[in-house]
Amino acid sequence: MVLYGCLVMKLYEQLLEELSQRIEQGYYPVGSKLPSIRSLSSERGVSISTVQEAYQRLEERGLAEVRPKSGYYVQGRSAVPALPEVSRPAQRPLEVSHWEQVYHLLNSEKGQGHMALGTAMPAIDSPTLKPLMKALVEAAKFSSDQFLNYCDIRGSEKLRKQIARLAVDSGCQLHPDEIIITTGCQEALVCSLRAITQPGDIVATDSPSFYGSTQAIKALGLKALEIPTHPETGISLEALELALDQWPIKAIQVTPTCNNPLGYTMPEERRKALLRLAQQYDLPIIEDDIYGDLYYKSPRPRTIKSFDEEGRVLLCSSFSKTLAYGLRLGWVAPGQCTERVLHKKFVSTVSNPPVQQEAVAEFIAQGGYERHIRKMKAQYQLARDMMVDLVEAFFPEGTRISYPAGGYLLWVELPIEVDTVKLNKRLESKNISIAPGVIFSASGKYRNCMRLNFAKKPDEKMKQALQYVADEAQRLIDEA
Ligand SMILES: Cc1ncc(COP(=O)(O)O)c(C=O)c1O
Repeated sequence: MVLYGCLVMKLYEQLLEELSQRIEQGYYPVGSKLPSIRSLSSERGVSISTVQEAYQRLEERGLAEVRPKSGYYVQGRSAVPALPEVSRPAQRPLEVSHWEQVYHLLNSEKGQGHMALGTAMPAIDSPTLKPLMKALVEAAKFSSDQFLNYCDIRGSEKLRKQIARLAVDSGCQLHPDEIIITTGCQEALVCSLRAITQPGDIVATDSPSFYGSTQAIKALGLKALEIPTHPETGISLEALELALDQWPIKAIQVTPTCNNPLGYTMPEERRKALLRLAQQYDLPIIEDDIYGDLYYKSPRPRTIKSFDEEGRVLLCSSFSKTLAYGLRLGWVAPGQCTERVLHKKFVSTVSNPPVQQEAVAEFIAQGGYERHIRKMKAQYQLARDMMVDLVEAFFPEGTRISYPAGGYLLWVELPIEVDTVKLNKRLESKNISIAPGVIFSASGKYRNCMRLNFAKKPDEKMKQALQYVADEAQRLIDEA
């Protein structure tokens, strides 16, 4: 039985790898029909169930889709959409503005029946999260001694061991003692910034940039120097070098993998070049890897941290995008700055509640994390293409769209006449909201841009909401 089980496993895995390679090499082009289950089974001399298993896994990888009564097809768009322009932020350090707009976005996630199209919330209704819910309940039953006490400031060792194990996928060899558990990635970013800067210092960031990190820059009395950023290759190293020559920059902050909001994933060569630049100017890099594990293809890209032999990269991440953000569980691997970051963590929140840490550690140890991620990546990739198709179909001519290789966020650049703050205001009457571009800039740029979420496959209600947003955008153009 076991032998039979192993044999089946081997055969379907073999077939899966072969099919994946053929798709990735373009042998089976996007949109083409894959061989029928029956024909593949007789051609290969394997059982129908082996082929079915291979096709199901192919679907989970986001490489194939099943069409009722027709069979399996290669999944995906055949062409990248018209991408946003390379950003051109202000060329000087700035105080970060637009907190009110950020507050509005965060608040808009509440209310019943609200269609929040712009949040960065993952899908949390997958059955692959059920074992996590169970682990949370089990963990809460443990003895009060274990769970009503302070946890180690660094966080649970069991969880840190699991995080170190997962980090191997991104090329990182981390010892659990190099990791500090934090309250989400936000606290990891704040503790990192506090450990390496003084009020008044300048931090270079990619642009557009996640509003949580720019608002942290504001709250700590720092200035942001936004660097032009390419929608496919990320922060411009050429522009960064010029800025480093001109300004006394104290740190570089980037989200190089499945970037929020622009969607780029920096190629490996550019990651290494960024690290070389940081070495040349003797600067720390804060690397936000929160969406890294949601890169659709395998293996996922290596972190900048994985090339860093001196400990100058402070790697920040969390389970907020991969599992759920209500867990409030993040971590930082601060390299040389570990002791300083640990002190900031202590004065910030002392330590994290033990129950969530135990549950998440157990979930990962049981293989639940990898199973969940495999499923979510396939779901998000499929939803990305559906969402891009919808935006292309509904939105005014001249609209440009990002094409992320992972995660579930889309950056939409509308014609210049569309002010997305105004647009958001108009959407209120329909109980819809988007994330206006201004909150991703220190100085209120990107007024004609917005961020959309495609964590859930667009259903009829969402399509209607999108159509409404697109119509309002067109009205703004007509009025201008
Ligand atoms: C790029 C990025 N970094 C950090 C965070 C904050 O994450 P957390 O909820 O884990 O604090 C977010 C959340 O949206 C994010 O998109």
